[in-house]
Amino acid sequence: MPDTLPNTMNAFVLHRHGGMDAMDFHDDWAMPQVGPDDVLIKVGACGLNNTDVNTRSGWYSSTVTEATTGGAYDDVSREDPSWGGAPIQMPRIQGADAVGVVVAVGANASTDLVGKRVMTDCWQRDWSDPMNRDKTGYFGSERDGGFAQFTTADRRNVGVVDSALTDAELATFSCSYTTAEGMLSRANVGADDVVLVTGASGGVGSALIQLAKRRGAKVVAMASEAKHVQMADLGADALLPRSPENLKQALKAAIGQDTVTVVADIVGGPYFGTVIDVLARGGRYTCSGAIAGPIVELDLRTFYLRDLTFTGSTVVPTHIFGDLIGYIERGEVRPMPAQTFPLSQLRDAQQTFIDKTHVGNIVVIP
Ligand SMILES: NC(=O)c1ccc[n+]([C@@H]2O[C@H](COP(=O)([O-])OP(=O)(O)OC[C@H]3O[C@@H](n4cnc5c(N)ncnc54)[C@H](OP(=O)(O)O)[C@@H]3O)[C@@H](O)[C@H]2O)c1
Repeated sequence: MPDTLPNTMNAFVLHRHGGMDAMDFHDDWAMPQVGPDDVLIKVGACGLNNTDVNTRSGWYSSTVTEATTGGAYDDVSREDPSWGGAPIQMPRIQGADAVGVVVAVGANASTDLVGKRVMTDCWQRDWSDPMNRDKTGYFGSERDGGFAQFTTADRRNVGVVDSALTDAELATFSCSYTTAEGMLSRANVGADDVVLVTGASGGVGSALIQLAKRRGAKVVAMASEAKHVQMADLGADALLPRSPENLKQALKAAIGQDTVTVVADIVGGPYFGTVIDVLARGGRYTCSGAIAGPIVELDLRTFYLRDLTFTGSTVVPTHIFGDLIGYIERGEVRPMPAQTFPLSQLRDAQQTFIDKTHVGNIVVIP
């Protein structure tokens, strides 16, 4: 490593699954080791995502059945507390969406990367078998992430970005937009579709609106009405409240028809059956989250009598991260930064993120 780099750094470190007190700020954390295939990144900004909250609290454990709250759960199983169903190594620096400048490289990484501004691809591949989704880890979960002054990533898990956007703006994209694009590609969304987006004011939801519009689809976005003003210019063809009492009627009034061809859902919970019931024959339901609760009721008759297709989406194909960088560089998607916090105030940042009065994304600056 260059002599100019410090020996220690600021980092927010998770020590166990639990509430906010499970993680704390350190100003003397050891610098990360740079492996032969790694690049060392001086982090300029790191976005917040539910996965950091879910991993901290242990919400992914199958023993937890409640909605995401961000608080500690009493019933987390030590066997399956992470997204991938396996325990993660502690202490862990979380933070999925790091953006920064490469300041050093390992022996196998090109020195051309030094000085380049990069975004991190959340999906850490096994590069001897990169298409194998069972051999993936998540940045900030199976490997230390971006809630620190410096982080490392495999040279094949960073993308050089040529953009006028700030680091904080770029740090809103990786997790949410690759997830949203993965959902739309699993549901094969195209210009003939009418897509109903739930949780549309959040990170993945606002990405779903923009990326579905990019594909030429008509988009109906559902979100709290207090957030509609900020959402109006995202491109949605119609905005509906979070959970209209009569969704068919609300759709008919908004777009002149009471069905849609695709539901892109990140909310789940008690309203699940209602969104399924507005799918037209042959409709597709695609899901990558369940912020209102993972356990839902389904009338199987609606599913099979209407010839519906359900797709889950988490580990996205490798090309999606590169595609996203292209969309950013060409200005086809734009960020929705809500608020930034210093890294040392990550707990406050996460509480604001959990309170959900914001629209878009929250970012910390180391
Ligand atoms: N599978 C994956 O790879 C992956 C990746 C990223 C995210 N996710 C998951 O996707 C979900 C959304 O993530 P995100 O980053 O977009 O979250 P976010 O930014 O927190 O946004 C979620 C939105 O959902 C709405 N919402 C929250 N609680 C709700 C409830 N109880 N009922 C109805 N609506 C509610 C809120 O909108 P309103 O207040 O406007 O209604 C909020 O803006 C999370 O569960 C997350 O874990 C999964």
